[in-house]
Amino acid sequence: MQNILVLLILVELCIGGTDAARACNNYAGLCEKPYDTITYLGAHDSPFLNDASTGHSSFGNQFIKTTTQLDAGVRLLSAQVHIGKNDETGKRELHICHTSCALLDAGTLRDWLQEVRMWMDANPNDVVTVLLVNSDGVDARELEGVYSEADLAHYGYIPPDPDRAPPLSNDTNPTWPTLDEMINRNERLVSFINPLKTDKENAPYLLNEFTFLWENYYQVTSQDNFTCAPDRPADQTVLGMHNSGRLFLMNHFLYEQQAFGIQVPAIANISTTNSFHRKGALSDHLLDCSNDITRQPSFVLVDFFHVGPAITTVDIFNGVRALVGRFSRARSGHRRFWGPLLLRLQLSMCSCISEKERA
Ligand SMILES: *[C@@H]1O[C@H](CO)[C@@H](O)[C@H](O)[C@H]1NC(C)=O
Ligand SMILES: *[C@@H]1O[C@H](CO)[C@@H](O)[C@H](O)[C@H]1NC(C)=O
Ligand SMILES: *[C@@H]1O[C@H](CO)[C@@H](O)[C@H](O)[C@H]1NC(C)=O
Repeated sequence: MQNILVLLILVELCIGGTDAARACNNYAGLCEKPYDTITYLGAHDSPFLNDASTGHSSFGNQFIKTTTQLDAGVRLLSAQVHIGKNDETGKRELHICHTSCALLDAGTLRDWLQEVRMWMDANPNDVVTVLLVNSDGVDARELEGVYSEADLAHYGYIPPDPDRAPPLSNDTNPTWPTLDEMINRNERLVSFINPLKTDKENAPYLLNEFTFLWENYYQVTSQDNFTCAPDRPADQTVLGMHNSGRLFLMNHFLYEQQAFGIQVPAIANISTTNSFHRKGALSDHLLDCSNDITRQPSFVLVDFFHVGPAITTVDIFNGVRALVGRFSRARSGHRRFWGPLLLRLQLSMCSCISEKERA
């Protein structure tokens, strides 16, 4: 059952990508690929940190900040937007908060988007996706105001029809632009927001998440319970989602159930959750879901992304071999351990494809 996917990966690993001068998202071979055919590693709740800045909040989902995540290869950032107020003036302003601003307030949306924009300014060959949970349902116009204040709006990718996903790209029919095309147009930021009433007039680059994406279940509290079935939008099938053109976002993070129904990231299990081949492991889940949907998931959202080989896993799925311009905290310590395994995987995959070709 896993053959289709293995074959896909193999074609990449064995034959390789084009030799464009530019490296898109750290790898030249990705430049020619339509946006929807690549798997992007996502930092779940990117700005909600478990570090000194939050008093090591147990609600934090990442140990290191957004800029460092991007440096390390993360290309999807998720966050929650809430209506807050300015500390000094008391005026309404949008904040990024975890569940509620009383619980964990990571500052203004503007400052965080500005951090993303500064990184994008400094990295002109990278395509980034932002996924915002619009917790208080603010309208597109207000969000657009903050994107503009952060000077991020001009990077916004505007699809041909902001109210309808195109069919999924395939080898003969690319329907999304390639990374090269997005970079050339400098429309390198894709913004999905849930919920959102789109405003084509004023903010055509702010897209309703579930017009373009679908997700599996995300409040998983047992390593045995990762699934690939559509959970949002509700009451859908994999085939239905495929035919709708929606891209699959695979949630892969584990919560620990505490008293009073409170859930916090299961930190003690993180090295298993983000691992390669264990019960509840990221790679196995990714492989299972890829087979279910007969293509690579477009997005994979994880907690504490740099613990374990999450980025390596996604690199393998993308057939990435010669990285350019990646500064990773994650690699040291893992490279030695995973190196031989990856080599084995690649060799077995390559011999498998040549057998297929011979057959
Ligand atoms: C590619 O997609 C187009 C529509 O987007 C479809 O008509 C065609 O059958 C697909 N080709 C393959 C090989 O799946
Ligand atoms: C974390 O791992 C331990 C040991 O394997 C296991 O007993 C526990 O159920 C796991 N926690 C969750 C939330 O799955
Ligand atoms: C895991 O899934 C099974 C089957 O759906 C369910 O019965 C069980 O309650 C789930 N366990 C947890 C901890 O959510």
